Amino acid sequence: MPGLCVIGLQWGDEAKGKIVDLLTRPNDIVVRYQGGANAGHTVVTGGQTYKLSLIPSGILRPDVQCVVTGGVVLNPPSLLAEIDGLVARGVTVGKNLTISDRAHVIFPWHLEEDRLTEGRAAAGEAIGTTMRGIGPCYRDKVGRASAIRLGDMYRDGFRQKVERVCAHKNVLIRALTDGTQPPLDPVQICEEYRGYAERLRPYVADTTSLLLDALEANRRVLFEGAQGALLDVDHGTFPYVTSSNSSGVGIASGAGVPGRYLQKIIGVVKAYSTRVGGGPFPTEQDNDLGQHLRTRGNEYGTVTRRPRRCGWFDAVAARYTARLSGVDSLAVMLLDVLSELPEIKVCTAYEIDGRRVDVFPSHVDDLRRAQPVYETLPGWQQEISAVRDVDDLPANARGYLARLGEIIGRPVEIISVGPDRDQTMFADRSRRAAEVAG
Ligand code: IMP
Repeated sequence: MPGLCVIGLQWGDEAKGKIVDLLTRPNDIVVRYQGGANAGHTVVTGGQTYKLSLIPSGILRPDVQCVVTGGVVLNPPSLLAEIDGLVARGVTVGKNLTISDRAHVIFPWHLEEDRLTEGRAAAGEAIGTTMRGIGPCYRDKVGRASAIRLGDMYRDGFRQKVERVCAHKNVLIRALTDGTQPPLDPVQICEEYRGYAERLRPYVADTTSLLLDALEANRRVLFEGAQGALLDVDHGTFPYVTSSNSSGVGIASGAGVPGRYLQKIIGVVKAYSTRVGGGPFPTEQDNDLGQHLRTRGNEYGTVTRRPRRCGWFDAVAARYTARLSGVDSLAVMLLDVLSELPEIKVCTAYEIDGRRVDVFPSHVDDLRRAQPVYETLPGWQQEISAVRDVDDLPANARGYLARLGEIIGRPVEIISVGPDRDQTMFADRSRRAAEVAG
């Protein structure tokens, strides 16, 4: 059974791209199955840094097939810019990239709606989206009447569809902006998007059949989650979430593969917590410590460059998302960022209205009132970014990892101490990436 999945267990930005890159082998298929250009994956290899958004990290490896499935929402100009950027740096992008004809397309009206919705939110209630039109595009997908999929762009009737949707959106935009905004021009949009469609044509196919064929033939497929499980639209900190199922439960529906093929799920966590955008964050450190983590961890959004909110590790949240996502083992990232601290706190429970709670609250109002209950562990105050063997980590760093695994209830299998591919070690020294990957 050949499916290996990499899922973020926090609020995104857990460095999943590095783990996917590390575990990818020749002839693998690497799949992006939800989200869109709201995601940013950084992969550092051979001294070069690549920032990927929609294209799976596997694109940097020869002999790897990359697939973007129908669960994704895609913005053609930004996808084409990503392809062009890779090609300009000598990366091959051709038959090694397949994009689903079922993927929903982000149009200019989605970007406009994202801006208008966020701009009109009551004080303190904005979601803080990436403004990439993700929510409005998924809203149209579920609403169906105004949705346009990639496959529609190659069919008769595309122009009529754009005209009809534009007419509808223009009514909305006029009402929301008191007529101050110029209307969308369907002729111009249609022409522009037909150009994008032609350029994307060589990549477009039915990825559901492609993946089912591959899995039935026992080929190994890596499913690369975007965002993190706490941003899952159904199971995250709603409404401060993204619009797709970013936890492990979204893999099957986003990719169009039965769950029985998902053989192993690796949950990726940072050694501390970060969050971009609005919403409760019980362990947030809006102080010097938070600033220290932000500076040391370079905690600025890959896509929007917004400073990320930083705080201690929240094990209540991670335990919940590890169970929800069916995680087998953990990859703990950015451990080196904690190196200078004399002591390190881990949130092991919450106190809500005077009651101790160790189950992650289902309602955001309860999470807002949650006071973290901390356990304090000794720091190691020694640089570890050059360590390559788990036995060479300071005893307190090993103690910290062991405690995280214990509280979350899953073994720590991979440890990362820097952005480079080789700044990685396996908890079981005898195991190599190939074995971890199954
Ligand atoms: P949207 O996905 O642009 O609608 O944004 C919804 C929420 O998810 C906001 O809080 C964003 O900051 C957050 N978000 C979306 N994508 C990412 C990501 O890749 N990493 C971290 N946060 C994200």
